[in-house]
Amino acid sequence: MYIKSIQIHILIYRFIAFTMSYSIFCVGHPLIDMQVRQAEDLITKYNLKANDAILADVELESIYEELITERQVFYVAGGAAQNTARGAAYILPPNSVVFAGCVGDDELAEQLRAANKREGVLDVYQVNKGQKTGACAVLISKGHHRSLVTTLRAAKNLDEEHLWSPTVAPFMTSARVVYIEGFLLTHRPEIAIRLGRKVSEAGKIFVLNLSAPYIPRSYNTQIQEIIPYCDIIISNEAEAEAWAASNDHTEPTNISSVAKAIALLPKANVASPRIVIVTHGAHSTTVVSAENPDAPKIYPVQPLKEEEIVDTNAAGDAFAGGFLGAYVLEKSIDVCIETGHRLAAMCVGQEGPQYKWPKVNIL
Ligand SMILES: *[C@@H]1O[C@H](CO)[C@@H](O)[C@H](O)[C@H]1NC(C)=O
Ligand SMILES: *[C@@H]1O[C@H](CO)[C@@H](O)[C@H](O)[C@H]1NC(C)=O
Repeated sequence: MYIKSIQIHILIYRFIAFTMSYSIFCVGHPLIDMQVRQAEDLITKYNLKANDAILADVELESIYEELITERQVFYVAGGAAQNTARGAAYILPPNSVVFAGCVGDDELAEQLRAANKREGVLDVYQVNKGQKTGACAVLISKGHHRSLVTTLRAAKNLDEEHLWSPTVAPFMTSARVVYIEGFLLTHRPEIAIRLGRKVSEAGKIFVLNLSAPYIPRSYNTQIQEIIPYCDIIISNEAEAEAWAASNDHTEPTNISSVAKAIALLPKANVASPRIVIVTHGAHSTTVVSAENPDAPKIYPVQPLKEEEIVDTNAAGDAFAGGFLGAYVLEKSIDVCIETGHRLAAMCVGQEGPQYKWPKVNIL
């Protein structure tokens, strides 16, 4: 009886994946964001930088308890790749985006599921019994700065088997684009690397977001291993600069030059030339294609008025979501970048990694 119900379950998933056009598959650490404003004192107390993204060490573990008991916390669905998934779903038809990651069996996971459902992302979570779902303290301080302190908890336990399990694999098959956050390279990086290889061998588009300066700084070997499988690499200026420093690049602050160097790194699937995208906040976005590495394209960003800015948390994730959404719709790179800018601007105007509802058409 039990076996039978599992088989039916699997058949249903195959059917869903087959009949619907799930074209984007995202993998990352599902996190709940715990946002706190006027956090200057916490930044000083815990010796943090106003603008940064780090993993909580033992000393920082107490910050979550302190937030819960002493501050007014705004809970919102987070996690870099999951934010990107919701962003891509925002501009795509229903049943386009799937997200995989590992959560605990707690109320925080329920909040994430509700957000995904509301915003059109199908989550295929692995559930860690008795574990807590990962969290990210988002400390917002003056001048729209945000300091992110993450505790991964269940998120770091994602098993490779889960990605290829009968309920998840069909979506991998239906996807044309697989997107991962660089944070996956911090724990059991071989899972992300093998995923990249399989996706690349299948002739699909594999996209990596460098995610935070500490990834190229501390996990450069893992990045070197995964890069040959990457068709598109997304980073911001600080992450590109950190990559340059780790790889002895001679002009670390010249974004075009760093993007070109990354674009020209070895590539397994030579059929599609690599594209490297480096955002630079409200300044501009640089795109270099391996096809024409000496012709970087620089796209200006329409800056927002000071009073339109709520916070910049997850603006980069939103950019990636807008870009990917337009990309699977086979828009030109110019349109993809523009869509990314628009979705990022929308996110900056909302509290945390959120988009505007009811939906506005930004394509
Ligand atoms: C930055 O690098 C690009 C590409 O290598 C080069 O064309 C440009 O002259 C450099 N810019 C500066 C300011 O050095
Ligand atoms: C992904 O890329 C964006 C755009 O460069 C960047 O701002 C952001 O930090 C990255 N997001 C994550 C956390 O994966």
